[in-house]
Amino acid sequence: MRSRRPQRDSHFVEAESLRRMTRKRRADAAESQRDQLQARALRAAAANGFGGDAFAEVRAQIGFESELPTVLNHPKESTMQAIAIEPSMHAGTTARYAKCIEVSKRVRWDIERDVILGRRFDFDKKFMPDGLSKIGRLTFLQPREQRFLSHVQGRTYANIFGLVERYIGAKTLELSREHGLGDQIALEALVRMTDEELKHQALFRRLEEMAAEGMPAGYRFVPEPNEVAQAVLSKSTWAVLGLTLDIELFTQAHYRSSIEPDAELSPLWKDVFLFHWKEESQHAILDELEWRREHARLTEAQRDQGVDDLIGLVAAVDGIVQAQAQADAEYFIGAAGRSFTPTQGDAIHDGLLRAYRWQYVASGVQEPRFAEVLGELTTPVQRERIGRALAPIVGHAAG
Ligand SMILES: [Fe+2]
Ligand SMILES: [Fe+2]
Repeated sequence: MRSRRPQRDSHFVEAESLRRMTRKRRADAAESQRDQLQARALRAAAANGFGGDAFAEVRAQIGFESELPTVLNHPKESTMQAIAIEPSMHAGTTARYAKCIEVSKRVRWDIERDVILGRRFDFDKKFMPDGLSKIGRLTFLQPREQRFLSHVQGRTYANIFGLVERYIGAKTLELSREHGLGDQIALEALVRMTDEELKHQALFRRLEEMAAEGMPAGYRFVPEPNEVAQAVLSKSTWAVLGLTLDIELFTQAHYRSSIEPDAELSPLWKDVFLFHWKEESQHAILDELEWRREHARLTEAQRDQGVDDLIGLVAAVDGIVQAQAQADAEYFIGAAGRSFTPTQGDAIHDGLLRAYRWQYVASGVQEPRFAEVLGELTTPVQRERIGRALAPIVGHAAG
């Protein structure tokens, strides 16, 4: 026993040493692979368009110096390339997730410290800009009434974002789990996005409280966030991501084209959407990456079901918009401080519905980037189906 023991121990030590060496070689190889991937990602980041200057002019106008990425700076890779390669191993794709993290860290803001700053709304100023409110068409309204209607629309605008962010946050959390034991960069980007959407919901709840302080009683926000979220999340991921990209693109388009250039808006209301825009820029990129990732793993039949679901979701958004336009028209007419003829009442209701259909449906689907991505992920027959479904809503908004 005594003579064999050292031999056994020696074999044991030798075997253990071999196992350690193998583990170390594997760890070194994994680290080297990670380094290579990271290096490829960094090289791709320099070339993938995130450093592009497409919005330099807009950034200069609003005094926002950060490098805001935009889906318009999408790398010029073919669709087939983009969807044929496993996303987590695609250095360009990883670089885009990584860039979202970097910008998210750089632009991160706090509700009270950076946005509210102890301020209250200036009710002598408008909330919703003319470019989105379509109020100018209601020529029988006095300037004071136009301003009040812009407050009603601006209050609803903030509540609509708080509403959709309930389902967006839940969906993003669900998507992040798919990266849980995979691409840790994608995971972090999606976790940050979820966190930001939770913060945005808190910001919009704060806005609702502050709007209520300075407006007559009786305002109602009709849809219930959890009910809407449950209905949306029951649809296919392909469709949910399509709707989300549409929303997160129009958020940015509204700020750039209508909110930022309007000098007559309440400074606090305007700042809320400036800060919101800063974080939404990354979200739209993540929506697109996740939509393409989902698309790549579906069968043709599943994609076709996604198109049907997307049409159903747009119809559901239109249903919400119709109910809220009715509620807002009733509130405005009841609280404006004078009576309106039935014709004027109808015009107010129709004007609100047109404005909301423009804000929440038509402006998003007409965004060039949305049309481009949708064009890559659908067939001509599917696009015709979507176009037919949208035609009455878009036509009314434009009329
Ligand atoms: Fe948001
Ligand atoms: Fe978002």
